[in-house]
Amino acid sequence: RSVALAVLLTLVSAVDRGNFKSCQQSSFCRRHRAVKPGESPYTLLTDTVTVNDAGLVGDVINENNRIVFTLEIYPLKDSTVRIKINEKNPIKPRFEDPYALVKDIHGESFEVVDQSAQGVTVKFGSHRAVVNAKPLKIDIYNGNDLVVSTNARGLLKFEHYRNKPGNEEQPAEGEGEPNALPADDQEEDKDGLWEESFKGHTDTKPLGPASVGMDISFVNSKHVYGIPEHADSFSLRETTSTDPYRLYNLDVFEYEVDNPMALYGSVPVMLSQTARHTTAVFWHNSAETWIDIKKLPDSNVVSSITGFFSSGETDPPQVSTHWFSESGIIDVFVMLGPKPMDVFRQYAGLTGSQNLPPLFSLGYHQCRWNYNDEEDVRQVHENFDKHDLPLDVMWLDIEHTDGKRYFTWDHYKFPNPLEMTANLTARGRKLVTIIDVHFKRDSNYFFYKEVHDRDLFVHTKDGNEFDGWCWPGSSSYIDMTNPDAREHYSDTYRLDRYKGSTLDTFTWNDMNEPSVFNGPEITMPKDNLHPGIGVEHREIHNAYGMLFHESTYEGHMKRSDRRLRPFILTRAFYAGTQRSAAVWTGDNTAEWSHLRISQPMLLSLSVTGITHVGADVGGFFGNPDVNLLARWYQAAAFQPFYRAHAHLDTKRREPWLFDAETLRIVRKSLRQRYQHLPLWYTLFYENELTGKIQSLFFSHSVVCSSYND
Ligand code: NOJ
Repeated sequence: RSVALAVLLTLVSAVDRGNFKSCQQSSFCRRHRAVKPGESPYTLLTDTVTVNDAGLVGDVINENNRIVFTLEIYPLKDSTVRIKINEKNPIKPRFEDPYALVKDIHGESFEVVDQSAQGVTVKFGSHRAVVNAKPLKIDIYNGNDLVVSTNARGLLKFEHYRNKPGNEEQPAEGEGEPNALPADDQEEDKDGLWEESFKGHTDTKPLGPASVGMDISFVNSKHVYGIPEHADSFSLRETTSTDPYRLYNLDVFEYEVDNPMALYGSVPVMLSQTARHTTAVFWHNSAETWIDIKKLPDSNVVSSITGFFSSGETDPPQVSTHWFSESGIIDVFVMLGPKPMDVFRQYAGLTGSQNLPPLFSLGYHQCRWNYNDEEDVRQVHENFDKHDLPLDVMWLDIEHTDGKRYFTWDHYKFPNPLEMTANLTARGRKLVTIIDVHFKRDSNYFFYKEVHDRDLFVHTKDGNEFDGWCWPGSSSYIDMTNPDAREHYSDTYRLDRYKGSTLDTFTWNDMNEPSVFNGPEITMPKDNLHPGIGVEHREIHNAYGMLFHESTYEGHMKRSDRRLRPFILTRAFYAGTQRSAAVWTGDNTAEWSHLRISQPMLLSLSVTGITHVGADVGGFFGNPDVNLLARWYQAAAFQPFYRAHAHLDTKRREPWLFDAETLRIVRKSLRQRYQHLPLWYTLFYENELTGKIQSLFFSHSVVCSSYND
């Protein structure tokens, strides 16, 4: 019986790994992991190198198949350098993510100080980019110190677009290789090149293999950080005996701690810190990405890297990272610090800084799936007053709507939303309502009908409106790549459109990975089409959630004639999310391990610029005991976003439902939070101005010194 019970417990309390691909089940992951370190076939043709105002451009050839690529190196202001590699003559243009970067990125003046058959050296400020031609390798120096080296291990692999074998069309002159399945490609693992199936879903891959990958070494480093979101340690672990860390926005039911599986959001930014330098890399790509981490030298393998220094010299210690994305191009920003705060500013210069949260949103938030009706909401917030507990925001989850039709209200349970909101605002409080990314396919539902009639939803590969299953049942997903869709959606926040909302109603964007219950890996098929920008979903998957919450932000700006600062919470995120939203870590569990992991998860987000972050206090799934609940309130009082939340099936857990001692601890935690509000607000203001992040580092020291009782 106990075995049966154990099995049952595992079934109910752990992630179903079978729903999500392992590296072995992802053909491009297998192909990149199979690249052997050693002599890279990629060579810079030094006689093609030209220098223009912005930087340096040259041809790189893959000696094995003679495909030619363009290498571009752009020194940028504030100790940053951008390295791009793209196909020179692709049979179709390759996708370049237009969403992460802010518009005004400025070039730095530079000088080519050395150019020969062996390579080129570019100097900018006190930094140098030294390009070794054969094999291609780009070393970045900060002063005299080598800090980052790309393709040092020779793992660069760029899958050029090609015609499907047996299906060749001769391209017009100058449009690239006629038919390309060149020699080296014929030797590799061909399974999944043109089609890939997983759990009954087939990805048709009409463009064939198109992945890109390269290794990036952080020299003299022992630790690397960042690449959220994973429920794992802050200092990232070696992946030699696990799957690589995966970045692919997914709705993972009952996620586990201490593993590299993908979660709801992705920021492909990694930092390394040595005694002399903090350095970071932004791998600018919005497609599915995996990252292997290996610390060198490896005591088991003598000098496993090649090409670092000329032979005879010993390789320096380093963390070698290997990045690969399913499509797009190689576009890497190296930020040279040298101090942590410099790197945060440099990255903010590329993707923007955290928007200054309205003060109320730094207070305490009370949420649950669901507060049942207006009377329930009233009692809960009155009880906060009765028990002398500070509270700023009440939240309503999906059940407040008319059958999960967002921008509507359940007429029986929430007949007077304006009055309910007025009762809250009379006490200085705000309301947050949930707006998800899927829209019920019901022609009597105003929002669905309008967007359908304008054909602004995502399409299937065959050009029909995509129909996926989510909370409301059969649903369509708005095509946020389409400016018309963004405008239509954001206009819906105007107070005359979103009836029952006020300027004190704020927004929670959920399920925006997007979550599709009947889709491959619980998300959208990669071969779906975004008519707005004319690309497959595959290209923009990791940015889709951000496009949604950015439009929500725009909606809030519009409704107040751009006077009031919005507050948006999002579950899915990408590089740039900090410009418009706060993030929470999704569906955690009421277990000590989840309280433990909240801290490294929030730190990993913070160092990639997303600083308004929190985890569900008390744990979303399950019922915390009083100790866990009390400790969670204490710890989270020092985390930037402070919200209690719980699953529909959990027991009610408002603080006054527990014993007097627990209530005292919760009250003390909430008050401590409110005592620190001026400090939080100031830190966020500095964060917005300069990209500086101190809030979480600050919180660590306070947590350590605050709780001696
Ligand atoms: C999933 C979210 O992660 C959770 O917080 C929310 O309560 C449910 N969706 C229902 O909306």
